[in-house]
Amino acid sequence: MAEAEKTRIALLAIDDDPKSLELVQDALAREDLTIVTATDPHSGLELALRERPEIVLVDLVMPEMNGITVLERILEAAPATEVILTTGHYSAESAVEAIRKGASDYLTKPLSISRLRERIGALIEDFERRRRALQLDREMLRTYQFEGIVGRSPLMLDVFSRIRRAAPHFKTALVTGATGCGKELVSRALHRLSPSTQARFVVCNSSAIVETLFESELFGHVKGAFTGAVQDKIGLFEYAAGGTLFLDEIGDLPLTVQTKLLRVLETREFQRVGSPAPRRADVRIVAATNRNLREMIESKQFREDLFYRLATVEIKLPRLADRKEDLPLLERFFLDRLSNEYGKRIRGVTPRVQILFARYHWPGNVRELENVLSNACMMCEGDTIDVQDLPEHLAKPTYQAAADDGEELLPMAEVHRRHARRVLEAVHGNKAEAARILGLHRATLYRLIGEMDPEEAKAKGA
Ligand SMILES: Nc1ncnc2c1ncn2[C@@H]1O[C@H](COP(=O)(O)OP(=O)(O)OP(=O)(O)O)[C@@H](O)[C@H]1O
Ligand SMILES: [Mg+2]
Repeated sequence: MAEAEKTRIALLAIDDDPKSLELVQDALAREDLTIVTATDPHSGLELALRERPEIVLVDLVMPEMNGITVLERILEAAPATEVILTTGHYSAESAVEAIRKGASDYLTKPLSISRLRERIGALIEDFERRRRALQLDREMLRTYQFEGIVGRSPLMLDVFSRIRRAAPHFKTALVTGATGCGKELVSRALHRLSPSTQARFVVCNSSAIVETLFESELFGHVKGAFTGAVQDKIGLFEYAAGGTLFLDEIGDLPLTVQTKLLRVLETREFQRVGSPAPRRADVRIVAATNRNLREMIESKQFREDLFYRLATVEIKLPRLADRKEDLPLLERFFLDRLSNEYGKRIRGVTPRVQILFARYHWPGNVRELENVLSNACMMCEGDTIDVQDLPEHLAKPTYQAAADDGEELLPMAEVHRRHARRVLEAVHGNKAEAARILGLHRATLYRLIGEMDPEEAKAKGA
């Protein structure tokens, strides 16, 4: 049964003394709790492994198998289970051992009914709270998903609205943004919502094509057009006819090809290499890049006219670091998917992980988050991802990432050096004045900024 639909929480009590089990049943009879019992540890363990109850009460001393072994076996298979040990033979050592092995509590017999109720009540409340939170998360996820793109930040809502408005009409569109922030996802959404949704979405990855083959790749060639052209070949423009051609990494397009592409976009016609016959270019174009095309125009690496032709519709994707309010939703989205993939029941991440995530700068954006969670799911033994499941650079964040204001934390010497340079700049390089302000001897200032003091040099040379 799916976790979220299950409303009753199951408790399994294992004890060789039936009286003890009766007491538990009486004490805990409540509507939201299903109680199962077993008087021998073997069948108890079997029940636990099959039914996966949320809570297990187990007696410490039983013939055949003791409670600690049962505890270990259960936690091995279902680490999220709350296992409470009960015993009539209290000893500090066994209590410590039980807790160390992962028991969530240790109760002495005769069991105090009120203590038992209080303890189980608290666990149930905790389960309910988590279940409600999970349900809310899932509802949010349904609300804040647009064509498989997750986001609720104003920046992403704006992206959704642009896609929605552009998709029915665009002929060309440009999708920009840093690596891993969803450019391909958005491009596919544009295609799906366009009138040509039934036709092909064809990907052309410009960074994977050698310069000399670009033209033939895009427009095709006829037999004998060049050495190696042993037969006619259609290009991506023809292959995508009626649909969408996705020109990924458009920033890597060589200038010569940029010129040809521009012509095609203007005339809506192209020719196969080696053939004069014009053919109709009946495709929508979505171009994507993580490079700064405006800068590339400045440095003459990208044609300005092509840029404006492509950017009639421009969708800019924000970096994940600029929309951290999307993190919890994205976490939920990926964890649901990954739990399925790995056959695990991962409910979420601990608050500590949430804090680390919120502080991290995510240079690889959503793809990086996906990878981090995927690894964590593999590592995770319980139902909640904790710090030890994260890769080292996140678990042990650099001081820079851990600093609340995001400012780099530096060694004292480096702070001194930078401060000295700042003061020096402020006084236009007047070293005597800088030393006076800093309260340092001039020789010390020179050492600090890594220069040789001319006086000292003279003295040494003398
Ligand atoms: N908003 C989002 N919601 C859900 N999944 C996302 C989102 N953004 C990105 N992803 C996922 O992150 C991964 C990277 O996305 P995508 O390939 O679209 O990025 P990209 O911008 O094209 O990256 P690159 O510049 O490296 O090619 C994919 O698995 C994609 O499904
Ligand atoms: Mg991409």
